Formats: sequence, structure tokens, C-alpha cells
Amino acid sequence: MDKRLNFAVVGCGRVAYKHLGALEALSGKARLAAVCDLDEQKARSTALKYGVPCYLDYREMMSAHPEIDVVSVLIPTGYHAPVVIDLARFGKHIIVEKPMALRICDCEAMNQACMIHGCRLYVIYQNRYNQPVQAARKAWDSGRFGRQVMATVRVRWTRHQQYYRQDNWHGTWALDGGVMSQQASHHLDLLQWFMGPVDFVQCQSATRLLDLEVEDTGVALIRFKSGALGVFEATVAARPENLEGSLSLLGEKGSVVIGGIAVNELLTWKFDHENVEDEQIRTNVSQIVSNVYGNGHVGNLADVIHAVRTGEKPSALVDGEEGLKNIRILTALYESAARNGDRVTPGMEMKLCRLGELAN
Ligand SMILES: NC(=O)c1ccc[n+]([C@@H]2O[C@H](COP(=O)([O-])OP(=O)(O)OC[C@H]3O[C@@H](n4cnc5c(N)ncnc54)[C@H](O)[C@@H]3O)[C@@H](O)[C@H]2O)c1
Repeated sequence: MDKRLNFAVVGCGRVAYKHLGALEALSGKARLAAVCDLDEQKARSTALKYGVPCYLDYREMMSAHPEIDVVSVLIPTGYHAPVVIDLARFGKHIIVEKPMALRICDCEAMNQACMIHGCRLYVIYQNRYNQPVQAARKAWDSGRFGRQVMATVRVRWTRHQQYYRQDNWHGTWALDGGVMSQQASHHLDLLQWFMGPVDFVQCQSATRLLDLEVEDTGVALIRFKSGALGVFEATVAARPENLEGSLSLLGEKGSVVIGGIAVNELLTWKFDHENVEDEQIRTNVSQIVSNVYGNGHVGNLADVIHAVRTGEKPSALVDGEEGLKNIRILTALYESAARNGDRVTPGMEMKLCRLGELAN
């Protein structure tokens, strides 16, 4: 009997190809059962490429394929909540791309729907699975950094107007948000994953080079509940090309800087006390990436498969509760930016607002 988990995909756009490639890489543990897209041509061409049936309606797909174990929701962010909530009725485990949704209350409703119907919800944050990030996390968990001092994330990427013209959702408040919620959601997640709960943020945002209703640039200072500080810098108006997607971690006993365009290159690995494996880490963990998505989807999906199989939650895997933390911090950033940099503590009172409603 085939013991592989059966996956289905809703949304055959850009990021779908990372998922479908990862499923091929994990073919001993997972197989693709069906795909769905509202756009018939995209649904058909993806189905043809992978040799599976295609659907225009995910409800029809779920009804026709009771063998599906996991369904991946890879559609514009503003549609994540209604589709995940509706899909939960089928009782299958759900993966949703980052960011989880655009409102705290939507994320809460997604978590509740999955709980009621007995399915688990996982949010993709594949940068956690980059080799240098995994090495840093191991050192962090073993206490090698000592007291946390400061962490910085930088996203200096290039998006031209054409990128926003390709579809009707990127760069809109209703379906996407700006660089902070779209591109830098990953980097904010890394900050939170390493540094823990946020006490408050102070944020400024601007739209400098692109003709958009959302921000193309944002910066923030973050104070964590530990007392350590964070610096967040994100722009899609870096020119002439993608320059950096990085994470710096500074502690009492050591510092690590991971750069490249996709948090993929180890630049600094220095600790007061050198360990035997340190030289090997410096030499081996950097990864070559073909684009800013990086190579982490395989590790992320492998962890989902492990979690579904065993009921355990691997420590890097982001579930619906962890995904919600990102939306709370993002909501605080947007609210602070709307209030000209006032301190904002991530909190329940803003949960009914969509990110754009805060900015307007
Ligand atoms: N993890 C990453 O690095 C990464 C990278 C890119 C995008 N994303 C996220 O993935 C999601 C999708 O982004 P994308 O760039 O692939 O978008 P895209 O516009 O390229 O593709 C989205 C697809 O979803 C389809 N769709 C919309 N509503 C649907 C529905 N109800 N049923 C079936 N299909 C539907 C559209 O027709 C389209 O083909 C977004 O949330 C985005 O933030 C994550």
C-alpha cells in the first residue's frame, strides 16, 4: 500500500512551483493528488506538467478526492481567510502561504475553524529552514549567544512597477499590503522566532519610488520583552537590483550575521569560545539560491509531513498560533506608522482592522 501523504494545491501561481518542486523532492513521502486554480489555463498547464487532475473549484476537488491528506492554499493573501475557513469543513490538514492573513481576527477565525474541524493549520516560513539559519538557531538554543543584545533584519530588494501591474492584488491594501507585510513578513518572522515576544514597536513607512497605495519602504525599532532591541528595515525600492535579505544576531558571547539576498549566506560566525564544529559551519552552511524565495520549501514541507505523520510539532514549523504572532507584530507596525511612529504594543484591541485600514 502507498503510504505517502496525498497533497492538493489551491492556486497554481508563482509560489506554487516551489511547493510542487518540493513535493517532487519529497516523492518518497508525499505525492500530488490534484491541483486547482480559478484560471483555467493555469490549472490545466500545471495539471498537464504534473500528470494529475485539475479543478477550477476547490470544493469540487476536495469532494472528488477523499484521499487528500493535506491541502496547500497558495492564493493571494487577502483570500487566505475565507478559503481556509471554508476548506476546514473537509477536515483535511491545511498549509497556507505567508503571511497568514491581513487581519488578526481573520487569523483567529482560521485557527478556530481548523480546531473545530480537527485539522491542523501550518503557515509557510521557509527561511527558518535555510542552513545558516538552522545553524544559528541550534547555537541560540544551546545558549552560545548568552544574553540577547540586538537583532537586525534588512530587506533591500528591487520591485519595479511592472511587478505590480502583472496582477490585480500585489500592492493593494485589500489583498496584500506593502513591503512590510508581503516581502518582509519572512524577516519579521525570523526576528520574532529568535528574539521572542515584542514589547513595542516604533515604525515609519513611506512610498518613495513606486506608484502604489501601500508603502514600498518601512523601518522600525523594536523593543522585545527581554529588554533586547531589534532593528527592522525593508524596501522594494532598492536599485538597481536585489541587494540583501539578512539577519544579524548579537549576543553577550557571540555574533552571527547571515546575508545574501535570501538569508542564505553565512557572513559572520564568531563566539568567545570556539567549538570544534565552528570552522565546518563557516565553510559549509551557506547556500546558493536562484531567487529570493531561497531553498527552504523542501525542509518546511518535510516538517509538515513529519508533523502530520507523528502528531509532533517540530520546533521550526509555524502553526496557526505562531503564524498569528507575525500578523500581530505587522498590525502593530502599520498602526505605529499610521500614528507617525508612536509606540504600539501588539495587542488585541487592533484585531478588527485590516493593515490598510490602519494606514488610511
Ligand atoms: N514563501 C514565499 O517565499 C512566497 C513567495 C511568493 C508568494 N508567497 C505567498 O503565496 C501566496 C500566493 O502568491 P503568488 O505569488 O503565488 O500569487 P500568484 O498571483 O502568482 O498566484 C495566485 C493564484 O491563485 C489563484 N487563485 C486565486 N483565488 C483562487 C481560488 N479561490 N481558488 C483557486 N485559485 C485561486 C489565481 O488565479 C492565481 O493563479 C501569497 O500569499 C504570497 O504572499 C510566498
